[in-house]
Amino acid sequence: AWRAQGLKVGFVPTMGNLHAGHMSLLAAARFRADRVIASIFVNPLQFGQGEDYNQYPRTPEEDARLLQGAQCDALFMPEVAELYPEGGTQATLVSVRGLADVLCGAFRPGHFDGVATVVAKLFGIVQPDVAVFGEKDFQQFVIIRRMTRERTCSRVNSRIDRKTPVADAAIRSTKTATAITHTITAKSNT
Ligand code: PAF
Repeated sequence: AWRAQGLKVGFVPTMGNLHAGHMSLLAAARFRADRVIASIFVNPLQFGQGEDYNQYPRTPEEDARLLQGAQCDALFMPEVAELYPEGGTQATLVSVRGLADVLCGAFRPGHFDGVATVVAKLFGIVQPDVAVFGEKDFQQFVIIRRMTRERTCSRVNSRIDRKTPVADAAIRSTKTATAITHTITAKSNT
């Protein structure tokens, strides 16, 4: 509906347990878009052996409170079964070859495939015009930028913003959202 009104949609994907760093991503998204959607999803696919998915901190009430304060317009908090309908197995992986298996990726096999796969799913559902990622995870950012370029066959405008230490990628998604929109809950309206 926002897009139909000509509004630009910004997106900040997170795994929750939000802190000041996430707030700066939301501010950067707000600066670049008319409406801001955040997602909270602890993605099992990006956790390797010995990395405890179950122990990952989950603080949904506190996160929702912070998001309201940060003028976030909508929060998308899917269940694992919504993003992984086939259960424990995911046959379709987004693998950014040459970028995902070096540096950090060399020590965390499958991690960046898990990240790229879930971000591709989230982009398909949310269809943002702009998405904002922390520069802290620079390898992740480079992988997502490459993945977005190749999947949407578009030139992705991206730049590093030194003032609000974030990297952002403008996304032109060609996917259409389906019934998933009902799980996007309006949190606050400014
Ligand atoms: O950076 C993160 O918090 C995660 O890797 C992301 C991008 C939300 C994907 O699960």
